[in-house]
Amino acid sequence: MVQEFDKVGVVGLGTMGAGIVEVFARAGFRVTGVEIDDTALGRGRAHVEKSLAKAVAKGKLTEEEQSAILGRVTFSTERENLADADFVVEAVPERMDIKRDVFTDLDRICPPGTILATNTSSLSVTEIAALTSRADKVVGLHFFNPAPVMKLVEVVATVGTAPGTIELAGEVAKRIGKTPVTVGDRAGFVANALLVPYINDAIKAYEHKIASREEIDTTVTKSVGLPMGPLTLADLVGLDVCLAVMDVLWDEFRESRYVAAPLLRRMVAAGKLGRKSGQGFYDYSGAEEPAEEVPTGPIARAVRDGAHGFDLADLLIVPHIDDAVRMVGEGYATVEDADTAMRFGCGYPKGLIELLDERGADSVADVLKSLADAGFVQHTPAPLLAHLLRAGRTTLRTS
Ligand SMILES: NC(=O)c1ccc[n+]([C@@H]2O[C@H](COP(=O)([O-])OP(=O)(O)OC[C@H]3O[C@@H](n4cnc5c(N)ncnc54)[C@H](O)[C@@H]3O)[C@@H](O)[C@H]2O)c1
Repeated sequence: MVQEFDKVGVVGLGTMGAGIVEVFARAGFRVTGVEIDDTALGRGRAHVEKSLAKAVAKGKLTEEEQSAILGRVTFSTERENLADADFVVEAVPERMDIKRDVFTDLDRICPPGTILATNTSSLSVTEIAALTSRADKVVGLHFFNPAPVMKLVEVVATVGTAPGTIELAGEVAKRIGKTPVTVGDRAGFVANALLVPYINDAIKAYEHKIASREEIDTTVTKSVGLPMGPLTLADLVGLDVCLAVMDVLWDEFRESRYVAAPLLRRMVAAGKLGRKSGQGFYDYSGAEEPAEEVPTGPIARAVRDGAHGFDLADLLIVPHIDDAVRMVGEGYATVEDADTAMRFGCGYPKGLIELLDERGADSVADVLKSLADAGFVQHTPAPLLAHLLRAGRTTLRTS
């Protein structure tokens, strides 16, 4: 079915949209990229051109391929130019008022058969779909940053999305070289609902002086081989984005696990947003940073010595594993999808369920109990974990 069309629209050519234009054009689609005004359009076009020029300089693309790709892209400030698009991806700022304006307009401009996809990270795809007269043809297509590099695309299906639309969105994702995971319209989808509470836990550990920022970051990279530590990652993602995800998780689930760390909220209020503002948990202004003192309080010492039956790596990673088990147990994600999301969306060398199976459900349950006994009460074991243990199993994958 995907082969039947080749005209794609992308609305909003910022951080995500410019990368999405590139990905579609590279895969052979004809793309119309639409921006709000000439200045933003120039910025979006420069972003695409620079990215392709970089690929040529690295020898990953020939000059002929580069000009063929650019030849497939039309840049415009007129949404009306999407009147013949078969598939439109919206990547405008994460504000419902802007999405409303775009979707009501796209619904008017595009033929009834056009699929309208949103790249939203935290808004309700169901609400966005309800703004149109074609809720069955509206789907989430959640790319990861940077879009040309990260392999995961979450295909977000609402209760009203037609099965054909979900299937087609998955096929489109595959045709542009991505690995799709189909998920329901739930706060944080899969990857952010797992990643951001883990970052939030690390911020709480830092705030409560359980460890220094360097200890927190290197513990995780060394013990689990994650590409970077959670505080470095928070700075990269943007502390405002992390806070927004925590707040939507809290709004939807109202569980203490999803209460944003007070320090996270204060840093956002102070404009310390991470790399993009030049200051987050680390300084990006180029100024010399004084070495942080290693905390020496009683809890920090107990965690460092493993006196309560867990160490810093356990404190950071085991609740993260438990969240993935809970998500699988609730039927929201399959084991495969939960692991694919973290491997292809967050660059993890192994999925969280793989980590569970390697470590053993009994060991994970023991650490969670030790954490709760030591007062970290928000880490309650997922029901599926208890079920596994009662069934005498230590792994979730059966084979
Ligand atoms: N940045 C990320 O890491 C990331 C990751 C996944 C998903 N997302 C989601 O992608 C979407 C875009 O995020 P972003 O980070 O690229 O934002 P951004 O601010 O970098 O880009 C948004 C672009 O939309 C343009 N725009 C604003 N109003 C418009 C309109 N009415 N018509 C056309 N263009 C308009 C702006 O000029 C800007 O260039 C959001 O929904 C966000 O949640 C972001």
